[in-house]
Amino acid sequence: MSPKKSEKLSRKRVLITAGPTREFLDPVRFLSNPSTGKMGIALAEEAVKRGARVTLVLGPSPFGERIKEWGSLHVIQVVSAQQMYTAVMKYYRQADIVIMAAAVGDWRPVRMATKKIKKVRAQLIAPLHLKLVPTKDILATVGKKKKKGQFLVGFAAETDHLLRNGQAKLKKKNCDLMVVNRVGLKGTGFGSETNQVLLLSRRQPPIRLPRQSKQRVAETILSQIENLYQNERV
Ligand code: CTP
Repeated sequence: MSPKKSEKLSRKRVLITAGPTREFLDPVRFLSNPSTGKMGIALAEEAVKRGARVTLVLGPSPFGERIKEWGSLHVIQVVSAQQMYTAVMKYYRQADIVIMAAAVGDWRPVRMATKKIKKVRAQLIAPLHLKLVPTKDILATVGKKKKKGQFLVGFAAETDHLLRNGQAKLKKKNCDLMVVNRVGLKGTGFGSETNQVLLLSRRQPPIRLPRQSKQRVAETILSQIENLYQNERV
């Protein structure tokens, strides 16, 4: 993959998270979500084309095998939210731009059983109660720790009140740009070929993008990052 002529991201370090996470209950069962990582991977591809040095922290994605073959991209494959957190904590300090496109699991079982949980007779009729604890919020952690000159992009997966929920997340997680993703409809969000997003930043009016391929959405997001990142640094 040869870099394009666009210079704005040239030699910039970009850290991207993508895909779902898996929180195992026992060796054969896990909690997860329908994310495939397509949006984050499209962002990584586009950033590489624009000359950036990209580290992609990728959860269990069906496209994980293909990604390994890219030469100019550093890929770290993770499974759980805790592993994603550890990888991001290792790399975010060196990054100029951090883009958190991953659909991180919000809860994990208190502990993972080392052996398969068997169906004992009583559990065939009674509900099985799972005890879950929250995972660490990776984006909020980076939002708290980010240094001047670092640009932070969050994603918000929302079924309704996109503007209100997105604006709240932009502020709460101290982001410079929030990509609000409509989920729960055909043709947008998890696993879909296309996406429909709303871009929210601190000083500019919201930008509503039409439903289009994740590749095109990635191009627009990166152009927007290039503009805002340059303006913030002047
Ligand atoms: N995120 C994260 N770590 C988590 C949960 C979410 O880094 N444990 C990040 C996601 O990568 C995304 C952003 O936070 O960039 C928003 O994620 P989202 O699932 O939309 O929202 P939540 O913060 O989990 O809030 P809620 O589920 O209440 O909408």
